[in-house]
Amino acid sequence: MQALLRPHLASMPAYEPVEPYDVLARRLGRTPESLVKLDANENPYGPLPQVREALARLQHVHRYPDPESRALRDALARTFHLPVEHFLVGAGADELLELILRVLIDPGDAVLIPTPTFGMYAFLARVYAARIIDVPRNPDFSLRLDALREAVRIHRPKVLFLAAPNNPDGSLPPREVREALLDLPLLVVMDEAYIEFVDEGGPLGDAASLLPLVPKRENLVVLRTFSKIAGLAGLRVGYGAFPQWLAQAIWKVKQPYNVSVAAQEAARVTLQHREDLIPVVERLRTERQRLYRALQEIPYLEPYPSQTNFVLARLKQGSARALKEDLARQHGILVRYFASPGLENCVRISVGRPQDTDRLLEALQQWEPHA
Ligand SMILES: Cc1ncc(COP(=O)(O)O)c(C=O)c1O
Repeated sequence: MQALLRPHLASMPAYEPVEPYDVLARRLGRTPESLVKLDANENPYGPLPQVREALARLQHVHRYPDPESRALRDALARTFHLPVEHFLVGAGADELLELILRVLIDPGDAVLIPTPTFGMYAFLARVYAARIIDVPRNPDFSLRLDALREAVRIHRPKVLFLAAPNNPDGSLPPREVREALLDLPLLVVMDEAYIEFVDEGGPLGDAASLLPLVPKRENLVVLRTFSKIAGLAGLRVGYGAFPQWLAQAIWKVKQPYNVSVAAQEAARVTLQHREDLIPVVERLRTERQRLYRALQEIPYLEPYPSQTNFVLARLKQGSARALKEDLARQHGILVRYFASPGLENCVRISVGRPQDTDRLLEALQQWEPHA
């Protein structure tokens, strides 16, 4: 019966998600509370108290959610001063990424991805049997604009996925570079999942965002999420500003009840109290600085400067895989490790609370890299 499968799926690698908290805890012989979870760029402070209260009061969970997420999209329009027609919401930014491919990609169409970057782009492109045009970044993770232009000329991709700032290194291409990409003849999906953490972005990242350009450009999508700064990763809710032609196409093909009642309400209440996120952003930016500086002092690590809520570090000695495993087994500290091109021997550490950084630093100081 396996022959019934679409052939390209047979050889496709599965996405490797982070494992659930309780499963990892059991495997490590620890309680979930004793773990220091720095592997998925989540917000250690969780949602705002007003959101927790709204969720506790939630009515109508026996009814299907609003398929148009009207209250939430109205709140987005008010928050960002754009017409509501530009906004779509999804079960995480991930769902919006997929919806974009669903309406654009026939098998064999090209998708442009400057790598290394968020693995979801290539994963979804493979699901849709797209041709992936991978343009490696410079060693410092900056974009090679000329190489991207050349790739567009040769391969005629329909869409470019750019995480801005980028996961997993945390760099943000300068605004001129991001805007220059908009002159290319393709759809630019600017994934601003971490924009709130950008230093030059003002209190909540807005000054660094390209969101205000969406109504002026036919080829720009800006994606955002409530998973990171709003602390709602478990509820799955993201949003994006889309050009009208694309939003209309996506309305036709999206699952009607894609965002749950709880997720819509939690996201709406977050926007209502958006100012209250400012101290959370400040705390995480401060802790990022502290983490980065402390990692610079660890002799076997070379951290990269970050504009996000995580820091990537390359090991100058020892193995990143061994470090990740030792941190988990001996200390209950979870980080991500990478070995893919451009990320050889790297670990990515999410910014946690000060006490999480303390525990991590103590463990890193004890660790002995073996050649
Ligand atoms: C660059 C980037 N975009 C999008 C996402 C996913 O966001 P969501 O949880 O809203 O699906 C992530 C999550 O790690 C990410 O790193």
